[in-house]
Formats: sequence, C-alpha cells, structure tokens
Amino acid sequence: MISQYPHLIDLNDYPVSWWNKLIELGHDIRLHPQRYTHACEGKIMATLFYEPSTRTQMSFQSAMIRLGGNIIGFDNPSSSSVAKGENLKDTTKIVSSYSDILIIRHPQPGAAKAAALTADCSVVNAGDGGHLHPTQTLTDLLTLHEEKGRLDNLNIGLCGDLVNGRTVHSLCKALSAYSGNTFVLVSTPNLRLPSYVKDIITASGSRYTEVTSLDEVINDLDMLYMTRIQRERFASEEEYLAEKDTYVLDKKKMKKARKDMIVMHPMPRVDEIANDVDEDERAVYFKQAKYGMYIRMALIMTLLESDTPTRLLSGTVRHKVNCQNPKCITNIEEYLPKSFTGSGDTLECEYCDERILLEH
Ligand code: CP
Repeated sequence: MISQYPHLIDLNDYPVSWWNKLIELGHDIRLHPQRYTHACEGKIMATLFYEPSTRTQMSFQSAMIRLGGNIIGFDNPSSSSVAKGENLKDTTKIVSSYSDILIIRHPQPGAAKAAALTADCSVVNAGDGGHLHPTQTLTDLLTLHEEKGRLDNLNIGLCGDLVNGRTVHSLCKALSAYSGNTFVLVSTPNLRLPSYVKDIITASGSRYTEVTSLDEVINDLDMLYMTRIQRERFASEEEYLAEKDTYVLDKKKMKKARKDMIVMHPMPRVDEIANDVDEDERAVYFKQAKYGMYIRMALIMTLLESDTPTRLLSGTVRHKVNCQNPKCITNIEEYLPKSFTGSGDTLECEYCDERILLEH
C-alpha cells in the first residue's frame, strides 16, 4: 500500500543521504534560526500524544512555532474522544483533515504506521511503544554531528534497558549505516538488545559485543548512551525492581572515561545518571534535548515541502495470521490489514517487525 504523503515511520525507510541532508539543515537552523521564522507560515501541525512526553511533544511544538506555523492536538487521550472509545483510524482520519502534518506517540508498536494508512496528511512516528523513535534518533545523530564532528568510526556504548529502549533500537539501526562504527552493549541478560536489531548491526558489517559491566568498557568509548530502565514496560513490579539501579553513571565512573567521551541520554533520566555528572562538560544530554528542536524544525520543513509518496505495506495480507506480539497495534485495532513480509514458516509483521513462526 502506497500513501500519497511523505511520512516518517522508520528512519530506515529513507536513504542515508536523506538523513544527512536533514542533519545539515538542522545544523544550519541552529546557526541561523532567523532565516527560517516564516518557513511554515499558514501550516498546522497536530500532535496526538497517547503516552506521556515532555521533550518530543514540546520540541515539536516549539519547532513549528519557530517556523511560523500553528499547532493543535492532545497530550492526554482521556481528554479527547478516545475516552469514548474512538478508534485510531477515525481519530487519525479526522485530525489529519484539520492539519498539514500529524505527530503521533502511542503505546502500541506499529501505531504510527497504522495511523499513516488512513491519514490525509504526513504522519511522523514520535514513538510507538517499545518499537521505534525515529525523531529521537535524528536528534542523536545531530548531537553526534555537532559534538563529535562525525557519525562514523565511533565506538558506541549503550547501557541499561536495551530490550525496551526504542531509542536504542532506532539508534543502532541508524549508526550501523555509517562505516566503522562498533557497538558495546552493556546490560543484564534480561535486558539485552533484541535479536532483530543485532541482526541489522551484523548485516551492515558493523560489530557488537555484549557485556554486563560498564566499568570494564567505559574507557574505550567515544560516546556512552545511558538509558532508563522502563518501568512501564515490565510485566510486574518485581521484575522491574530486580533490574532497577543496576547501572548508575557517577563521577567515579566518569573518571575512568576518556577526556573526549561524551555522555548522551534520550531522557527522561530517573537515577541512572547521578546529578553530579551534569556539571561534567562531557555530559551533553541537556544540549541533546535542544538539538532535538532544531532537527524537528528541519524534519517538519522537509516533509511539508516534499511530495514523495511513502510505501507503507509491501508484504502479503494474511487474514488468518495474527502477529504474535500481543502489544502489536494489529492485535488492538482489529480492522487493520495484517501484513507480513517473508515466506515459508518465518514471517515478519510489517507494523512491529516481530518475527513469527507459523505452526502447522
Ligand atoms: N526522549 C524522549 O522521547 O523524551 P519524552 O518522553 O519526554 O518525549
């Protein structure tokens, strides 16, 4: 299924040259914001946030306002007709008829793609459950570009909740596309990076190692990406408590790191980075959140100026097969065409990327 609108659902739907153009534009906007104050005059951006957010929602809103455009939307579905049982399709159809670009965050993996199937304007995935968060990845790429001066030949440490951290999944996929990057995955056995992301790293020719100790690897890193243990994605409080506080970056650990290592974090932070690290000039996570506004300005401009259609579904619709990921949007919004790539006994859900094995 091809949509007539340009959407951003997964960064990997676009070539690296497109990402690089956005990063260059974000860089220019940061240096010369006054040049862009009328770029989106007369345009309306809708933000549909079915999950809490500070940075993503407000940086998108301030981005559109700084471009001269206007904003509508909700940040709490219980104050909209979602509370009366309205489905995603109807909400998207209606709100997209009021706006030129729609930004959606939703707890279900695949929800942004599902929204794009019916939207009458561009849709941007602002986080779909534990799946992807492409605009955070663009934020992270601009941060590396501005702070390290390159996106290749980096030794990248990722630490914490690598299984649920959608920002980690998107970032690994993106940085695998640049040459010479290596990944050091620091987590407990229960919170390891999903296999499909590791397969993407390997297929790109990049290398990764999995370790449990941050102390042992911190002095080798160009960048350390800390992440929050995502309490809301655990099946029980006991399972969350067993993982909580395993990794805390503090001044003592920072002493072991290189002078030019930078610390990034998508935020919000809970307690995985001690407050006293904030004064260290290698801690760039507050700057990173501001870079997010510039790259989102670049993205809004680019999508509104583009008339390139987006291929949303290219696999086979199988009415009798259900995605085995219980959180997948196709298991919640049952009218959606269940579409899978692959053949034989192994299929991949086109919404949430879950691999499923057919039983005979
Ligand atoms: N990084 C990020 O997505 O932050 P929010 O949840 O506050 O939007």
